[in-house]
Amino acid sequence: MKIKKVFLGCLMLSACMLSKAQFVSVIPQPSTVIPYSDSLQLNAEEFIYTDNALLFSNAIQYLQKSLLKKNNFTWLKSNDKKRAKIQVVFNKNLEEEAYTITVKDGVLLIQAANEKGAQYAAATVLQLLVEKPTRFHWVKIPQLQIQDAPAYSWRGFMLDEARHFMGKEKVKQLLDWMAFYKLNKFHWHLTDEEGWRLEIKNYPLLTLIGGIGNKTNPFAPAKYYTQEDIKEIVAYAAALQIEVIPEIDMPGHATAANKAYPQFSGGGNEKHPNFTFHPAKEGTYRFLTNIIKETSVLFPAQMIHLGGDEVSFGSDAWNADTSIQALKQKYQFKNNKEVENYFMRRMADSVFKLQSKLLVWDEMADAGLPADKTIQLWWRHDKPEQLKLALKNGFAAIICPRIPFYFDFVQHETHTDGRRWNGLNSLDVLYNYDMAPFKNWQIQKNQILGVQANLWSETIANEQRFDFMTFPRIAALAEVGWTAANKKNFDHFKSQLKKHLVLYKADGIYYFDPFDNIHPEPVRNKNNTKYIDNPN
Ligand code: ACM
Repeated sequence: MKIKKVFLGCLMLSACMLSKAQFVSVIPQPSTVIPYSDSLQLNAEEFIYTDNALLFSNAIQYLQKSLLKKNNFTWLKSNDKKRAKIQVVFNKNLEEEAYTITVKDGVLLIQAANEKGAQYAAATVLQLLVEKPTRFHWVKIPQLQIQDAPAYSWRGFMLDEARHFMGKEKVKQLLDWMAFYKLNKFHWHLTDEEGWRLEIKNYPLLTLIGGIGNKTNPFAPAKYYTQEDIKEIVAYAAALQIEVIPEIDMPGHATAANKAYPQFSGGGNEKHPNFTFHPAKEGTYRFLTNIIKETSVLFPAQMIHLGGDEVSFGSDAWNADTSIQALKQKYQFKNNKEVENYFMRRMADSVFKLQSKLLVWDEMADAGLPADKTIQLWWRHDKPEQLKLALKNGFAAIICPRIPFYFDFVQHETHTDGRRWNGLNSLDVLYNYDMAPFKNWQIQKNQILGVQANLWSETIANEQRFDFMTFPRIAALAEVGWTAANKKNFDHFKSQLKKHLVLYKADGIYYFDPFDNIHPEPVRNKNNTKYIDNPN
């Protein structure tokens, strides 16, 4: 009896230690954590040693820059391992995005096989540091061991700057937070009905004319990214291990381009004028191929998103065009959807000639695109059959259904200005999103690459609104993409998130506070035309 009790007690104690051991003060929660007692003090001046300066310089710089900015610390590189409390060491046995951190015996040791792993280790370290009042000029890090790797390789964020242009500084701030949360793909929606935001030297009117206007004001002066801006942002992202994937939407959502070069318009209707590119003109394919050639040079990710969504919003115009009718007859196309598919297959060939992968929205799951070179983004939450079809057809897929991955949808019942569709895209709904059912639809392992949030910007007219819709849901997104399902715990996440709200505030972010609701929702003025610039 006595022995049994002791045994039971031990069991409970070890279960208790285990459950405690699972969690550490980091978002996204790492795979394995073993806590040791005590902590290591790190001072304002420390040395960092690495055995592979070439591979790990970006991650070390990230750590250095972040600590300089936040604490005014100068942690310098040193070749003298003995005096370096921080050590970044190559370990060939780890996977590309994996890392380990061991804090023990006076040393903070990071191990990685790749710059990505080292970057994620640095992001984890930054979150583990416990600050003391600045006059002491030191921080502490708990002694522990972490082994970490992501659940999914695609942890994306899409920003639509066609509807409202946010600009370089806001994008860089977003990239900083993506890196902090180990998000690694920035999908940049740069063209749509309301604006064309990417300079193409071959076709300057795309930005000079197509860049004019936004969702709030169709006559707003042209706003766009020059190619120099793009290079700057792509390099900034690359240093943070984030790949940038441009989207040039076609054959629908083409209005801004058609304003600039009407000879390639396939028409539209009253609600969506000049919405499509012309699918029966050879010139259209040459025009768009030239555009994506220039685009691919700017974006080294070798991935281009060509849209493919909602073409039917304007393709009724195709019925009245004799050359499009002739095209249909020539190829025995039964309807406009088959014309869309043909259009995308032709443009896909141009993407593949550039040694790039093609990304498309889920309308293209049955367009006859090659599965080995194409990634499908499942966005229509009410059409799970599209994801099923994409997987059955052998495509890799990204999970980003409107509910709960669209960040322009409202997140709280009191909010009025976002989109809404049966419920809320709240923090908990996003956090607890269950990926398990989709895994059973895979016909090959790892067909589901990961997840992505999409911030469409029809209702995002200013930075406050951008912040409010992005933060803190971006933190929940990170955990959906990175943390294994059995390691997720919403209560623990929320307790950590409280600390992150303080960080958002320090960075000037107008976040939504899911605990105290302290920031009013930024809403449009009473004429419903313009956002109030500062809701305070
Ligand atoms: C989309 O939301 N039209 C992809």
